[in-house]
Amino acid sequence: MQNILDELEARRARARLGGGEKRIEAQHSKGKLTARERIELLVDNGSFEEWDMFVEQEPNELTRDIKPIPADGVVTGWGTINGRTVFIFSQDFTVFGGSLSESHAGKICKIMDKAMIVGAPVIGLNDSGGARIQEGVGSLAGYAEVFQRNVNASGVIPQISAIMGPCAGGAVYSPAMTDFIFMVRDTSYMFVTGPDVVKTVTHEEVTHEELGGAATHNTRSGVADGSFENDIDTLKQLRRLFDFLPSNNRESPPTWPTNDPFDRAEPSLDSLVPLDSAKPYDIKELINKIVDDSDFFEIQADYAANIVIGLARLEGQTVGVVANQPLVLAGCLDIDSSKKAARFVRFCDCFNIPIITFVDVPGFLPGTAQEYGGIIKHGAKLLFAYAEATVPKITVITRKAYGGAYDVMSSKHIRGDLNYAWPTAEIAVMGPKGAVEIIYREDRDDPAKIESRTEEYRDKFANPFVAAQKGFIDDVIFPRNTRRRLCRSLRLLKNKKLENPWKKHDNIPL
Ligand code: HXC
Repeated sequence: MQNILDELEARRARARLGGGEKRIEAQHSKGKLTARERIELLVDNGSFEEWDMFVEQEPNELTRDIKPIPADGVVTGWGTINGRTVFIFSQDFTVFGGSLSESHAGKICKIMDKAMIVGAPVIGLNDSGGARIQEGVGSLAGYAEVFQRNVNASGVIPQISAIMGPCAGGAVYSPAMTDFIFMVRDTSYMFVTGPDVVKTVTHEEVTHEELGGAATHNTRSGVADGSFENDIDTLKQLRRLFDFLPSNNRESPPTWPTNDPFDRAEPSLDSLVPLDSAKPYDIKELINKIVDDSDFFEIQADYAANIVIGLARLEGQTVGVVANQPLVLAGCLDIDSSKKAARFVRFCDCFNIPIITFVDVPGFLPGTAQEYGGIIKHGAKLLFAYAEATVPKITVITRKAYGGAYDVMSSKHIRGDLNYAWPTAEIAVMGPKGAVEIIYREDRDDPAKIESRTEEYRDKFANPFVAAQKGFIDDVIFPRNTRRRLCRSLRLLKNKKLENPWKKHDNIPL
């Protein structure tokens, strides 16, 4: 009997060694952890159960001379994060560069299938040289099997990707179809074609980092949702994100205990919005002062900063926050911010997360760049996302809500459940100056007249009371009481039931 047990232990030890001591050292020398070390940091102590440790690459003509390595370059299984089940795959760069073979893909598919059956999220830790070259089409088939599962799982269980090394070629499309992508600074990159191919085809000279590093995807392309200092920080942030999310689309997110009183007044908010409506202020100050314990998990912080999105809690319950940021582009909606917020609104709606919207938006950003870039279609994404969302939607207009952007930002007319305004709100078709220049074109050359007309317009329209008179705003509230009003609104909407008409799926303007 002892022999059999020893044999098992020896086999396990062999598998745990992956590509061997030398390659583990090489991994460490790049500042990267190994696949198993990463899992240990991600899950609760001792909770990880590995599956398919003894799976090896299927032999074929091309792989006959390669000695297979148990686990075949990916560690898969399940564990818990703060007690809640999570399925994980973690690619092992020490084994054939973490490249994906048919067996490797089969292991990922197995945990994805089980995650769907038990209703638990999947986290993928990507560190791979792409398709296992020696396997040929078998590895391409493997990728496609994973892709199909990503699509089936979308909106059913949360899927989260961390890019912790290379992720190139078609391999990028699996993370791209998950809900969130985190990247490690300096050691991770994603691109469809690498620098060598780029040089051959377009004659551009570009480094891995410039083409697809964490900075590129978090500031320019918007492909990624966050970037972090190193492996440890990234894994910590994955745990933090996970705690905000439900396990699947039939459950609510977990409620976390808080000592933050629901009716905590915040007098400083009464003077947050400057009297001069051309002066900016930081919307994040407002968010931090309102949510539980100032704990706001911002998503895509460095991309399209004219809109702020992220997760927070009110009375321990997860909420999604969407807020125009007056500090950047005066909070205008443009192509990038519309796409960023639309995807987030849809994510919240998939996973039963109420949406709190803070509005201070002068309108859509004008200009040829925006029009040629298709702002009409991209802006419509955000409108569509809000209008189709059936989760509780609460809106607070802090200052400007002009034109089409007023309609888009979770207005009453697209099924906003509770719409509040601060007394500083200005709700109108356009800002006073623009309006007067159009309506009183004949006074254009008389600055004094324009000035007095502008004042007149401001008094008449640039306030919350015209909208409130019509019931488009449910109440004009004291800024200091915003937290209490939001918490009570969420209690009210706890059992909200609203369904969209039956359809196969919608046709959002992609
Ligand atoms: C098999 C691979 C591999 C691969 C790396 N290795 N990539 N083995 N298939 N795709 C092996 C290497 O031979 C090496 O083995 C070990 O992994 C480590 O690789 P190094 O090159 O030494 O590491 P490094 O210098 O850090 O460079 C990493 C790398 C490079 C940039 C990822 O390995 C690379 O360019 N690999 C090829 C990438 C690629 O073109 N993949 C195919 C993309 S197309 P030894 O034994 O020497 O340690 C694709 C299509 C997917 O993926 C389509 C899906 C639809």
